[in-house]
Amino acid sequence: MPLVTSKEMLLAAMEGHYAVGAFNANNMEQIQGIINAAVAENAPVILQVSQGAIRYAGLEFAAAMVKTAADLVNVPVVLHLDHGTDFDQNVRCMRAGFTSLMFDGSALPFEENVAITSRVTEIAHIVGVPVEAELGKVLKSTDNVTEEDILNAMTKPEQAREFVERTGCDSLAIAVGSVHAMRSQAAELNVERVKAIRDMVDIPFVLHGSSGVREESALKAIPYGVAKINVATLLNQAFTTGIKRGLAESPDEVDPRLILVHSRDEVTEAVRHKIRTFGSSGQVTAAGYRTPKRVFGKAELGDAE
Ligand code: G3H
Ligand code: ZN
Repeated sequence: MPLVTSKEMLLAAMEGHYAVGAFNANNMEQIQGIINAAVAENAPVILQVSQGAIRYAGLEFAAAMVKTAADLVNVPVVLHLDHGTDFDQNVRCMRAGFTSLMFDGSALPFEENVAITSRVTEIAHIVGVPVEAELGKVLKSTDNVTEEDILNAMTKPEQAREFVERTGCDSLAIAVGSVHAMRSQAAELNVERVKAIRDMVDIPFVLHGSSGVREESALKAIPYGVAKINVATLLNQAFTTGIKRGLAESPDEVDPRLILVHSRDEVTEAVRHKIRTFGSSGQVTAAGYRTPKRVFGKAELGDAE
């Protein structure tokens, strides 16, 4: 089916007390692996492309691959810009057909974040495209962050209310204890902070940096409005595990297809696990969509000629 926007998808998740997985992709095999998982789980899914992915694959390629994958299946798929750090990037993605945007002004002073987020929402809403914004800052593990840094960067509930009222953003990325790019699930969310923000703000929340969050902890936050959960590092780990497995099984193989098929399968398994954990498995039927059939798999690879 054609791409859908994240607006209704996230509101439905928030109301249904589950979260939609938002999975980062950089190449065709990752996209197919994610879509295969969503089809297998009959789940709504968000495919998101970061600025780094756009630099790697090219904006047109990234958009076309996700659109094509969505067209071939009957689960709802969103094409989302992840961490767009400037106004122009958001406009370019809107023009390329993205059905969900993010302006990340978390590195900016509050007033500047409000101003640019408001500009993005103003133009995106004209054409019905929802916008995620970030307040507080989800830090990065590679920046050697301390517990104190994480606490200081957390979203402040009162400020969140003002921010959402003034910007009109559709969803809000909140900093509540997660850290980007962790390679093991060791972080504990501050669920009390999530609750406190929920008392002030009624739009869907987005959890970034979930690869490093203990699953039990993420689950505790979902009932308080965390409706979109971003996963990137874990999928990169799955992808490279697939490459290593392929090469270990066939050290002399030179056909990349016969290596990357393992990566695609690893991504599918990792995404299926997350979809089930987040509670979005089977939610397509509940939303009234048809049960999908098509998958990209080994059968389509044939004899690799
Ligand atoms: O925006 C993307 C995410 O927040 C992914 O974070 O790589 O730690 O899973 P992660
Ligand atoms: Zn993020």
